[in-house]
Amino acid sequence: MESPFRADIVKGKVALITGGASGIGLEISTQFGNHGASVAVMGRRKHIIDSAVESLRSLGISAIGFQGDVRKPEDAKRVVESTFQHFGRIDILVNAAAGNFLVSPEDLSPNGFRTVMDIDAVGTFTMCHEALKYLKKGGPGRSSSDSGGVILNITATLHYTASWYQIHVSAAKAAVDAMTRNLALEWGTDYDIRVNGIAPGPIGDTPGMSKLAPQEIDSKARDYMPLFKLGEKWDIAMAALYLSSDAGLVA
Ligand code: HXC
Repeated sequence: MESPFRADIVKGKVALITGGASGIGLEISTQFGNHGASVAVMGRRKHIIDSAVESLRSLGISAIGFQGDVRKPEDAKRVVESTFQHFGRIDILVNAAAGNFLVSPEDLSPNGFRTVMDIDAVGTFTMCHEALKYLKKGGPGRSSSDSGGVILNITATLHYTASWYQIHVSAAKAAVDAMTRNLALEWGTDYDIRVNGIAPGPIGDTPGMSKLAPQEIDSKARDYMPLFKLGEKWDIAMAALYLSSDAGLVA
């Protein structure tokens, strides 16, 4: 598909994308790279990161991968600092790492609930906390004419109402949405950082969909979609690109 944006819309910017080696995160990494950004992808599984970095580089994208778990504060710190050391600045943090599985509340242990809260909610906060120094206006690597950086949190829509077997994810994504609003207020005011969220509905061809919606549910669900199709990773990547570029300066 041809991009509606100019190829240099994020040229010179450096993006760190958690969960950036698969699914929606990888599409964001790819489209940021295709539009001029350098990208660092963070993920738990080395072989997935290696293959993502190889595919990004094959497109001519300046990319590096870091293995790490957003649940571990020491990993978050190491990956943020390594990204800065490698590229000399950080402009965009995308929090796309997420954990998910289908389970009824009575079958979900408190530790299972906590695990998803830790990945999605606490992990997002930890990454924001570690990246703040580099994203704030006047921070390391930023010139005096640079604005503050951008944080983009990827959530979902299932917590807007209620969803079967997703109590842990709904709670975690609601927490991230709250964080997005609070950081937009406080870090926007204090540090000129733009903080936004994207809440995808069901998106095809992602680990989330293949895990959460078996094929027969998937095809049935399409009957209830106004456009009779699932969303595409491309849609989310284009929204991410808009919000992270100077086109989104007022967003
Ligand atoms: C019930 C489960 C479970 C399951 C894990 N647990 N899987 N409980 N059903 N299927 C419980 C365990 O019993 C344990 O609790 C606790 O969770 C921790 O499990 P571990 O296996 O030790 O955790 P870990 O190895 O760290 O893995 C965490 C994980 C991970 C969340 C299960 O495998 C993961 O993140 N996988 C999914 C990645 C993914 O699908 N990403 C896309 C997200 S899509 P106890 O009490 O036994 O110790 C998305 C979109 C949402 O977010 C919106 C869609 C519309």
